[in-house]
Amino acid sequence: MIKGSKRVACIGSGLVGQGWAALFAVNGYNVVLQDITEEKLEEATERTAHHINTLVNAGLAKGIEEAVTRLSSTTSLEEALNGADFVIESVFESLEVKCPIFAEMDRIAPANVVLASSTSGFMMSDIAKDMELHPERAIVAHPWNPVHLVPLVELSPGEKTSQGTVDLTYRIMEDIGRVPVVLKKEVLGFIANRLSAVLWREALDLVDQGVASVEEVDKAIRAGPGIRWAIMGPYLTYHLGGGKGGIEYIMRHIGVKKAKWLETAATWTTQPESVVQKAVDGVDDMVGATALEELEAKRDEYLIALNKLLWDGKSGVY
Ligand SMILES: NC(=O)c1ccc[n+]([C@@H]2O[C@H](COP(=O)([O-])OP(=O)(O)OC[C@H]3O[C@@H](n4cnc5c(N)ncnc54)[C@H](O)[C@@H]3O)[C@@H](O)[C@H]2O)c1
Repeated sequence: MIKGSKRVACIGSGLVGQGWAALFAVNGYNVVLQDITEEKLEEATERTAHHINTLVNAGLAKGIEEAVTRLSSTTSLEEALNGADFVIESVFESLEVKCPIFAEMDRIAPANVVLASSTSGFMMSDIAKDMELHPERAIVAHPWNPVHLVPLVELSPGEKTSQGTVDLTYRIMEDIGRVPVVLKKEVLGFIANRLSAVLWREALDLVDQGVASVEEVDKAIRAGPGIRWAIMGPYLTYHLGGGKGGIEYIMRHIGVKKAKWLETAATWTTQPESVVQKAVDGVDDMVGATALEELEAKRDEYLIALNKLLWDGKSGVY
């Protein structure tokens, strides 16, 4: 299918659906955007064209005109799936919304069509629970925002997902320049969102406890671990932090001392009300009157530079 008929249906055309659509279009796939109203589709087509423009102007893809002509849209799920070889769902993060859509897509699409979900944290087995025909073709393909500029896609198969579905989805993700990782078993939030959730809880708590301001927390991450994380994950980072003793030294000595810090770290699982206003006020203080569009444009400029520096055919530190 990769170099064959190449038609992809993007079900749900919000922030994430638009990013997927741009990526598939610049990589030569015909893309149909689907959503619940014509207004949403108009906006989605415009935003997708903008992302295509960004990728082409950045030198990360070729041919704006050509890619834009590969886009079409419809409010009909049936029409969107007609002739589609691969489907990526990106509707609201709710099982009440996703489950019936997967059950319906299972009835409409031929058995060999992979049905992938962009869900941020649900398990595929839960999303696919009402699929009666071919649950083996359902898989989570979790991207990161902005989808067209962050390479990672986490693939999380459900209990019934076939190896063929995993392999095909992996190849398609590579074909559109993504960096797929595959989970060995299902877990809520996958790899990177689970790690983010723990860091985010502590970031909120440090501000809530009056240890540091929002601006200082953001700066500490950006200038410290963040600059390393762009090139190495936590394991390699600590291996190099252990000097000649490597990871084992870190684990047996410094790692033990770190355990003490965890005794005073946040452990809540329900977000306390007190963190909300402090986060909102802190971000207001930090960004001032700078418009969201301006912040996004700056973010994208750096992400483009990092994509070229770190991911354009490079294999990384290890
Ligand atoms: N925003 C992120 O950072 C991010 C990152 C990775 C994954 N995700 C996941 O991607 C999915 C979409 O997130 P988003 O940020 O694009 O949300 P969004 O609100 O921007 O877009 C969701 C779209 O789905 C449409 N929709 C709702 N019900 C529908 C239906 N029955 N049929 C067709 N379209 C329908 C909505 O009209 C809307 O346009 C969610 O599961 C989310 O968790 C989000």
